[in-house]
Amino acid sequence: MTAEKKINQRIKIIGCGKMASAILDAWLKKSISPQDIYVDDPKPSEWLIEKKKHGLNINTKADVSFDYCFIGVKPQSLDEIKLKLKGLSKKNVTFVSMLAGIKINRLEDIIGKDESIVRIMPNLPAEILKGVTAVKENKWVEPKQSKNLALLLEAFGETVKFVEEKKFDAVTAISGSGPAYIFLIAELMTEVGINLGLSYDEAFKLVKHTIDGAGSLIVNSSLKPQKLRENVTSPGGTTHEALAILMNKDNGLPKIFSAAIKAAAQRSKELSKV
Ligand SMILES: NC(=O)c1ccc[n+]([C@@H]2O[C@H](COP(=O)([O-])OP(=O)(O)OC[C@H]3O[C@@H](n4cnc5c(N)ncnc54)[C@H](OP(=O)(O)O)[C@@H]3O)[C@@H](O)[C@H]2O)c1
Repeated sequence: MTAEKKINQRIKIIGCGKMASAILDAWLKKSISPQDIYVDDPKPSEWLIEKKKHGLNINTKADVSFDYCFIGVKPQSLDEIKLKLKGLSKKNVTFVSMLAGIKINRLEDIIGKDESIVRIMPNLPAEILKGVTAVKENKWVEPKQSKNLALLLEAFGETVKFVEEKKFDAVTAISGSGPAYIFLIAELMTEVGINLGLSYDEAFKLVKHTIDGAGSLIVNSSLKPQKLRENVTSPGGTTHEALAILMNKDNGLPKIFSAAIKAAAQRSKELSKV
């Protein structure tokens, strides 16, 4: 990506907790000037306050215009920031919401029916520039706004653009919540390694590089995950023994993953009705 120095947009971030800070961190690593970023958060983290020394604007009252307003509060806090959002309407700002389960039409009700609004679903690896972000724009987003937003989002990883907003429940369940599933696998594998006699350091180092290596193979290989799996599974071997349990149709991972991810998608649907 050649976005460095080309991204020259003034950005407001309302609600800068874990997810928005991960995005902000990536932007700062990509040479976006902290002076162009205005954070609005009642309790800014120490990390944010540290960035103030480098020019990041935190809770300033300055009357400046913005190209983008990223909304990073929890979905249940949306009502609290209604007035702030409304105050930015009719000013040619593109609103970018990362709120799980909050539909574009709800944002249009709050901000304005003819405002440029984009719903995104980023994920936490954005922090290390390896995020993947789903994107759905409303009809008022102009090509130039869309192009500049793509630069902003690609600064922290890949993007997938959607035409149908209804797919966002599935997106949220797969890539929004997905890193936590992998963190859990890392936790469990480490725990089992320790039970089998490894020290924590030994087990964790083996686990994290196994996940990193396998993930890189999935991304970089021309083979699908199923083929990669089959290639490392010799009949009667050790992997085969483990996979027989993991892939058991009655109580193995296919059933568990299906139930878990569907529950996440269902929760996303419920959140959209709050
Ligand atoms: N975490 C993820 O992996 C992830 C992935 C995809 C999407 N998301 C979405 O990203 C959003 C934020 O999630 P998060 O995990 O980053 O939550 P979070 O860490 O709780 O961040 C929310 C931030 O908003 C602040 N805030 C609360 N009320 C505010 C107000 N009235 N004005 C301005 N800021 C306010 C909070 O401050 P206080 O802490 O003081 O309340 C906090 O710093 C959610 O809508 C979530 O659905 C998260």
